[in-house]
Amino acid sequence: MERLIPPTSSLKGTLRVPGDKSVTHRGLMLGTLAQGESTLYYPLKAGDTLSTAQVMRQLGAEITEQGEHFHIKGVGLRLKEPGDVLDCGNAGTLMRLVAGLLSGQDIFAVLTGDASLRRRPMGRVTLPLRQMGARIEGRENGQLAPLAIRGGGLRGIHYELPVASAQVKSALLLAGLFAEEDTEVLEPAPTRDHTERVFRHYGLPIEVEGRLIRTRRAEPFAAKDLTVPGDFSSAAFFIVAALITPDSEVTLEGVGLNPTRTGLLTVLKEMGADLSWEVTEGQEGEPVGWIRARSSALRGVAVDPRLIPLMVDEVPILAAAAAWAEGETYIPGLEELRVKESDRVAAIAKNLQNLGVPVEVGPDWLRIRGGSVAGGGLVEPFHDHRIAMAFAVCGLPKGVTVQDAEWASISFPSFWQDLDRLAGQV
Ligand code: S3P
Repeated sequence: MERLIPPTSSLKGTLRVPGDKSVTHRGLMLGTLAQGESTLYYPLKAGDTLSTAQVMRQLGAEITEQGEHFHIKGVGLRLKEPGDVLDCGNAGTLMRLVAGLLSGQDIFAVLTGDASLRRRPMGRVTLPLRQMGARIEGRENGQLAPLAIRGGGLRGIHYELPVASAQVKSALLLAGLFAEEDTEVLEPAPTRDHTERVFRHYGLPIEVEGRLIRTRRAEPFAAKDLTVPGDFSSAAFFIVAALITPDSEVTLEGVGLNPTRTGLLTVLKEMGADLSWEVTEGQEGEPVGWIRARSSALRGVAVDPRLIPLMVDEVPILAAAAAWAEGETYIPGLEELRVKESDRVAAIAKNLQNLGVPVEVGPDWLRIRGGSVAGGGLVEPFHDHRIAMAFAVCGLPKGVTVQDAEWASISFPSFWQDLDRLAGQV
């Protein structure tokens, strides 16, 4: 579906973005491992997390929709052997985390996904999970899905993550719940810590000493309700939309403000953004609050590469902000962006070019010269939800055409309606 966005002169209003994708995946998985019934409040109901709900059902959980919420009847620590292949769709987080879970189970299961997910690197989880004792086969010796897993009989390992990845960390921590002896993961840099927080919520073993995270075999644990905060990564599109559109003021409410997710706020502030935010509550260990963004004269910056793991999904929307900033923005540390839902370094560069923005590309960096976004450009999502939304935002003030706009529904099904509402078009 192609979507034509007319030039937008102002964005005004308040928005509650959908539930956090990362927390929803984890809530569905932990609710499945728990004993008894619980409610997952305000989850994200979108392509990726509906895939997780389906996979958890195949592993024995009863998951039903209760209005906006999910009601989960857990199976406890022993999952059911699935009768068919587990389809992870487009969701890398689902495939990697469930590979960890299945490694702890003496059952046979096969994981597959869409064409994009079947191209993404899985060796980063299959290698350490095999070291823990799981039997995993897959294409290219376990580098690529489909993956066939028979788990059980795990022993804990000490593993130094070669890349800063919350998905790999979480896969190992989930496997560690079923292992003899401690499982320790050492991160090269801090990454989102939702798994650690959700383990604490359920009273599961978790110890954090700086960059070292430790868990061990879990005892059966009781189901417990969990409330999902709004997704900062979804809020990010509307933050930047308000900054680059004249005469705009947008307030996002109920947004997760976990500091391992909000690196973008630091960079935008440095760029001169008129932004404020406040944590107003700590929803079961996840800080939640509001963010307000107003039209701003942005200037280019050199981004500190150490911030990238704290904003790994926000680089496309940062590039959109950079396209509107005065001067040059340099974004290094982007090697992981090459293996996301698309090659995001290439997809960002192509879309900036389509919108008339000068950009230089290196193996792991982008240099963007802002200030010359043209009207009437074309956004090519490359089958990637965040590319579609980021460049729709980039083209907003002057008008743009977005190809395959339905990709937004992977993480933000109401994105287009919310945009129309804040632009005063409905
Ligand atoms: C996620 C971790 C990140 C992020 C993804 C969600 C998670 O991936 O890009 O959208 O929920 O753990 P990596 O761990 O591969 O960086």
